[in-house]
Amino acid sequence: MLHRFFKVVIFFDFLCTIECSVDEFRLLQHLKENYDPFERPIENVSQPLQVKVRMLLNQILDIDEKNQQMAVLAYVDYRWSDYKMRWDPAKFGGITDIRIQSGEDAPVSEKFLSTYDSRFIVKHTGEVQQNPPAIFRFICQIDVTYYPFDSQTCFLKMGSWTHSGSLIDLDFFLANLTNPKGEIVNPAPIRSEKNPGSYYVDDCVDLQVYMKNGEWELMHTPGKRLVTLFDKEPYHELFFYIHVKRLTLAYETTVLLSVIFFLQIVSNVNPPQSQSLPILCHKLSLIQNTSRFYEQLREIHDDLQKLTNRMNDAMREEQQCCEWRFASMAVDRLCLYMFTIFIMLSTSALIVPHLIA
Ligand SMILES: *[C@@H]1O[C@H](CO)[C@@H](O)[C@H](O)[C@H]1NC(C)=O
Ligand SMILES: *[C@@H]1O[C@H](CO)[C@@H](O)[C@H](O)[C@H]1NC(C)=O
Ligand SMILES: *[C@@H]1O[C@H](CO)[C@@H](O)[C@H](O)[C@H]1NC(C)=O
Repeated sequence: MLHRFFKVVIFFDFLCTIECSVDEFRLLQHLKENYDPFERPIENVSQPLQVKVRMLLNQILDIDEKNQQMAVLAYVDYRWSDYKMRWDPAKFGGITDIRIQSGEDAPVSEKFLSTYDSRFIVKHTGEVQQNPPAIFRFICQIDVTYYPFDSQTCFLKMGSWTHSGSLIDLDFFLANLTNPKGEIVNPAPIRSEKNPGSYYVDDCVDLQVYMKNGEWELMHTPGKRLVTLFDKEPYHELFFYIHVKRLTLAYETTVLLSVIFFLQIVSNVNPPQSQSLPILCHKLSLIQNTSRFYEQLREIHDDLQKLTNRMNDAMREEQQCCEWRFASMAVDRLCLYMFTIFIMLSTSALIVPHLIA
């Protein structure tokens, strides 16, 4: 405990040497006074704490068909009000908001699980906001029946196991949401009569910081708030649905590129009047017809297989040819050497007797 106290003192010392803000120091001391981070920050215990949640989707990182998983990078925007985080700006040098590091020493009580830590922004009215970034990797049932013309719907569910709705009132924060078309909307809840706490919305994910994915197009992000009774206590759950469609154009481009790559290789090997090139080109123009796409892919594959076999045969032939050429060259050289030696020997045989004589 003493250790932590010193850490805090050193931290404030350090802070003061950088920007000696006496008012901020006084304010932090004031806020830390009588603060217990385990307290539910509501004055009247019989009332729930209103927590509003907004999901800001940044990127779809991966959709893994094999392992039935989706991974996204998102910011989760939590907002609530803390009755102890109020102050009069006039008494603290006009400070209207302050950033507080979360962690063990943090005086703000609501701590939600997220992958990364982030600071709390606290306003003098007691409003607290936290936007931790997170990478969520979650199970999603992926149906590949219509691959590569498929679309998938995955969802994230958010709720508290330990705090019922009478302690934490969890709800979407829906105002001024950017939808998949890039419009700013205020989606209206569609409530059921039987359970007025539960509702649907057409958009629940904010896409103002969304970065497009090359393989998947984001179609729709509807949401659902579900209030379920367990043991006479209502429990609140938020469902964020992410509906994506596979971009077949990207898929076709990949296929086309690989085919073109093959064609390039083939055209270097085959004479231009070869039959196989027109066949392939013909197939490529037919790829647009989606109903026959599979058949054609298989046919292209077969054609490519034939072409590859032919290329291999040609290469083997060429190799054999080279070997024969080398052999004939070697025989040629050998003959030349032998002929030279023979000429020299016969010449000397003719000349030497004359020299001796
Ligand atoms: C606390 O909240 C309950 C339920 O809303 C209400 O009946 C009660 O009067 C409140 N108490 C105070 C002191 O405000
Ligand atoms: C929504 O946007 C409007 C116009 O910019 C603004 O007046 C309003 O305060 C915003 N609402 C919220 C809840 O941020
Ligand atoms: C697409 O394929 C179907 C089924 O083989 C055929 O009936 C149709 O005429 C084709 N369309 C085009 C544009 O080639």
